[in-house]
Amino acid sequence: MNTVENIKDLRAQVKDWRMQGLTIAFVPTMGNLHDGHLALVKAAHRYADKVIVSIFINPMQFGLSEDIDNYPKTLVQDKNRLMGVATDLLFIPSSDIIYPKGYTDNTFVEVPNISDLYCGKSRPGHFRGVATVVCKLFNLVQPDVSCFGSKDYQQLQIIQTMVDDLSMPVEIIPVKIIREKSGLAMSSRNGYLTPEQKDAAPIIYKTLQWLSEQVKTNNDYRQLCQQASEKINQVGLTTDYINFCHAYTLAPATVNDTELVILVSAFCGKARLIDNLQVSL
Ligand code: PAJ
Repeated sequence: MNTVENIKDLRAQVKDWRMQGLTIAFVPTMGNLHDGHLALVKAAHRYADKVIVSIFINPMQFGLSEDIDNYPKTLVQDKNRLMGVATDLLFIPSSDIIYPKGYTDNTFVEVPNISDLYCGKSRPGHFRGVATVVCKLFNLVQPDVSCFGSKDYQQLQIIQTMVDDLSMPVEIIPVKIIREKSGLAMSSRNGYLTPEQKDAAPIIYKTLQWLSEQVKTNNDYRQLCQQASEKINQVGLTTDYINFCHAYTLAPATVNDTELVILVSAFCGKARLIDNLQVSL
């Protein structure tokens, strides 16, 4: 696996592959890689000849109160994991490479409405940071396809909307959520959990499964979410939000919608965990 840190080397490798007529899949990450990230790389191989992964802890998507300095950095381990899934190129730019002028006065990309809901409400400016960096990375890598996890369901829909609205020539591939045996969705944030919290956290997925059963016979979404929130809070977590949503616009679900997604976020100790489950009625 070749590793590049600057734009010139990245573009040279991409150009070389393009001259050979090869297609490129791209997997953007912030590192601290687990099996969820590796599933994206494995999926990427099915869609293109070469797979590029980026590791960049994007300062623009962290709020002022969020501790970017403590975001886990495990580059040596990450590289070994990426070699294990036959990654062709790893791009690890510094912040100066991505934001030479700093990121506060930078041109930005904002996907309206959908970015203000749910996680966007709890983390103002977060999705502007995500959309901007993903747009920049797409411009640098110029991939044919790019894989994103359904774990970050709102992020996935925001990226798909950006690509549609701005006619970006890249196909977005959603990849299913990879879970621990307990049902807990894999996440870099699970590293913040104590053993007791790790035992409690699977309540999130259990509650999503319970909701997906209940909704077959009860379309009072408000009441169902109220009960679900109580189930989650009973074992010591604190629900941030839980909502039945339209699967693509993420607007609150109406009783006429048939393709739904249940989005949930809950604090478990200091970790804010997110999960979701799609439901077809
Ligand atoms: P990060 O949290 O590192 O996640 C990178 C990719 O891995 C995202 O597409 C995310 O949805 C996916 N992923 C994480 N956990 C997963 C799981 N359990 N199952 C399946 N996929 C999973 O998301 C980001 O980084 C950043 O916002 C980024 C898109 C890189 C922009 O900075």
